[in-house]
This record gives sequence, C-alpha cells and structure tokens, in this order.
Amino acid sequence: MSDASQRSAATRASQAQGVVYLVGTGPGDPELLTVRAARLLQGADVALYDNLVSAEVLALLPKTAETIYVGKRRNKHALEQNDINQLMVDLARSGRRVLRLKGGDPFIFGRGGEELEFICAAGVAFEVVPGITAAVGASAYAGIPLTHRRLAQSCTLVTGHLQDGSMNLDWPTLARARQTVAVYMGLMGLPVLCAKLIEHGRHPTTPIVIIERGTTARQRVIEGTLATMPGRAAQAQLHAPTMIIIGEVVPLGRAFAPFRAPTPQM
Ligand SMILES: C[S@@+](CC[C@H](N)C(=O)[O-])C[C@H]1O[C@@H](n2cnc3c(N)ncnc32)[C@H](O)[C@@H]1O
Repeated sequence: MSDASQRSAATRASQAQGVVYLVGTGPGDPELLTVRAARLLQGADVALYDNLVSAEVLALLPKTAETIYVGKRRNKHALEQNDINQLMVDLARSGRRVLRLKGGDPFIFGRGGEELEFICAAGVAFEVVPGITAAVGASAYAGIPLTHRRLAQSCTLVTGHLQDGSMNLDWPTLARARQTVAVYMGLMGLPVLCAKLIEHGRHPTTPIVIIERGTTARQRVIEGTLATMPGRAAQAQLHAPTMIIIGEVVPLGRAFAPFRAPTPQM
C-alpha cells in the first residue's frame, strides 16, 4: 500500500471507529510529559492506565474523563493483556477518544508493539506519543550520562526479568568494558545479574547504581560495584520501580552532584 493510501485508510478508520492514542507519560515527574501528551490528556474521554503512571499525570485528565486502571504490578495484573487490547478497541469503536497511558515510553518494555498489533488487526486507527523512558529520565536526574566519549561508546537497554530464576541475556556482549548497560525490571534478579557479568569478564569493581523511583520527589540513588551491590541493595530495602545502570559512567553522577541546581528552577 502506498503512503497516501495508508494515510487515507487511517483517516477512514479514525472517522468510523475512533482512535487509540498510545501515550508515553515518562518515568514519574509530570514535567517530563511531552506537549503532545499533555494536550491529548486534556481532551481524553477515557484513559486506561498502568501502575507506573503517576497521580500527577492522571490529574491532568478532565473531570469528565473515565479512568480505568489496568494494572501491571509484578505478576499482578488487574486485567489480562487480551482483555486490555479488546477494551481499547471496543472503547474506540464506541467513538470515544481513548488514551492508553503507559509509564516511560510505550515502545520500550511497554508491550506497545503487542497492543498495536491487536489495534491494527481490528482496523482501528492509532497514534503513538513517545515518552521519556526510565533509563533516560532516571539517569538524567541522577546526573549520569549514559554515553560519554571517553567512558562509554554504547548503551544497551535490557530487561532483567527473571524467568525460572535465570536471565536469558547475551552475557559476553554485556560484559564488555566501556559501555553502559541499563537494566529494567532487574531488582529481583540483581544477584544473578552481578554474578553473571563478573563470570563473563566484567571486573568486580565495575561501578553500578540503582535509582529507585527515578525523577520523582522520592528518588533514591544507591551506588556500589558489581561485587558489593547485591549486599548494599538488600540493606537499603529498595522499592520498585528501580533502574539499574552499570558502567564506567556511573561515578560521574557523584562528581557532578555538588553543582546540580536545586529543582525546580523555573
Ligand atoms: C514494564 S517496564 C516499563 C518501562 C517503560 N515503558 C519505560 O519506557 O520506562 C517497568 C520498569 O521500568 C523501570 N522504571 C519505570 N519507571 C521508573 C522510575 N521512575 N524509576 C526507576 N525505574 C523505573 C523499572 O525497571 C520498572 O521495573
């Protein structure tokens, strides 16, 4: 199908059946919403939202908007994924402006791709609004650059979700020096993560940081090394959500910290 006919198919679909807006709401601080996301929030009829969408973001919805919590706490889903998909499509077909709100960015470990597959198969029009993903937001608020010409030539985003007690990751690649690894959903598997990286050659003194509730007023930053972090994290009694960042860039956060301006500035 040509670009033009794809566009007119989308226009026909939106006129006939409403639209689903897949909106990334960022990692927590509502000031990190895009202008597009804020505008769509103000015009929503109904919003389906996850656990990680902050109360401040939901407060931007009009009083008339219906809100539906669809869950997604670890192993605790208010609705199964298929039911969420069907609900979005049904609501859009009833002609309402449906916002599917997701923490961070919808396409980074957010099942945005799966939801779009369903929406498109149903012939419903969609728009994706990107959000600041947790690795980017949390590292920025901790003052840690994810790449740095001298220290890290790449940054890899991985999920540390445990499956049957193990993590199926490309350890030899992740264990190379001079790169940053940002781990989503990795707190439960932290001891496995640190042990595997050391086993595959990353030095035990490699810096690692855990950023708890990044970008929110309750952000906490715990720093250590691959060797010390499992013990340190257990002591700190961390709570989800947490972002794990590993690599030579990590100590820069501490070095820059004395010069950080108090927020908010404007
Ligand atoms: C299911 S993933 C969703 C990621 C989201 N789509 C994104 O782009 O950030 C959830 C994981 O993101 C990370 N996360 C989300 N918000 C966070 C925050 N404010 N601080 C630290 N980590 C966060 C945590 O690792 C959490 O377990």
